[in-house]
Amino acid sequence: MQQYIDKAVEQFRTLITEQLARQNRMEAGEQAKDFANLPHLTIGICGGDGIGPIITHAGEDVLRFLLADDVAAGRVEFREIDGLTIERRTEVGKAIPDDTLAALKECDVILKGPTTTPHGGNLESANVAMRRELDLYANVRPTCVPELGIDWVFYRENSEGEYVLGSRGVEIPDKLAMDFKVTTDAGTRRIARAAFEYAKNNGKDNVAIVTKANIMKKTDGNFSRICHEVAAEYPDITAEDWYIDIMTANLVNEARRSQFQVFVLPNLYGDIITDEAAQIQGGVGTAGSANIGDQYAMFEAIHGSAPRMIEMGRGDYANPASVLKACAMLLRHIGKAAEAEKLEKALAICNEKMNMTGRPGGNTCAEFAKAIMTEVEAM
Ligand code: IPM
Ligand code: MG
Repeated sequence: MQQYIDKAVEQFRTLITEQLARQNRMEAGEQAKDFANLPHLTIGICGGDGIGPIITHAGEDVLRFLLADDVAAGRVEFREIDGLTIERRTEVGKAIPDDTLAALKECDVILKGPTTTPHGGNLESANVAMRRELDLYANVRPTCVPELGIDWVFYRENSEGEYVLGSRGVEIPDKLAMDFKVTTDAGTRRIARAAFEYAKNNGKDNVAIVTKANIMKKTDGNFSRICHEVAAEYPDITAEDWYIDIMTANLVNEARRSQFQVFVLPNLYGDIITDEAAQIQGGVGTAGSANIGDQYAMFEAIHGSAPRMIEMGRGDYANPASVLKACAMLLRHIGKAAEAEKLEKALAICNEKMNMTGRPGGNTCAEFAKAIMTEVEAM
């Protein structure tokens, strides 16, 4: 038994040293890129697996259409990034093959299709790897249901918490297992800053800080404290503490839920509650997601790669609505708010008008994208 304990203690020393180095790198920080004012911006298109390439290319078509002037003037460039397929990742045994990662790092923003994560085995999720490699620390997930008075934006911490050491826990076989959750000062400060800046710039006056600080006293306790320290710089915004369990209930409490505006929360709680929120909006297929860092930003649908649709030959009937929502977030991030608004309006119309059944008889993905462009043209 002693040898297990010694090994675990040694591992813990390594982990704490690495995480401290990461915190210190973050604290030293880099100047954030001003995505809205770059003289030249490269948009990487990364199809992924299953229906990913089909819906992502529909997204690319719509973006090219909306950004035609910038493309013609050489201000915006699209670049195809291949190699993020499950076949390639399995072949090289890496969540992101080295050449693909190098290509991604030459882009500014990325539109990414869903990628398959195998159950078990050692292959890490491509999503989690990309968030880490590009340091995409803010996972921004909006939920909007106007008829229910719901207009929420979740700022999920996307680079640490329960995820950063998720596959590096310790175990004494048949006896016990421990995983580690990490909250750093700099990591919390930057997600809190992102949430409060969003609130300030969008006329919101309430931010809910969602933790389980009554139980996870160190990690969530610090998360909440640091969020309040940041909040003190925003006197017009009320910062409220909530526990994740009751917040999960409040999202389905019709009497309360419309009072919430912006949420800031650690990684795993954010993962879980944003699926709940997406379901309230109509399902994960209706939600878009932005992964924002200081140097890169990646936009994606939050649904999976639907391998069964491909197996059954129904890929062309995949609904690109979720990836198009992500495209609207991408446009906003690069300073194209007017184009984003047009796309969102066209989406609302086409979601009603088009018949996306996912099978022959319904509309195809390409028809949906075409209809979006027709709507935008008519605006
Ligand atoms: C998400 C997903 C990912 C996560 C998975 C695919 C690793 O659930 O983007 O919410 O857990 O973050
Ligand atoms: Mg999730």
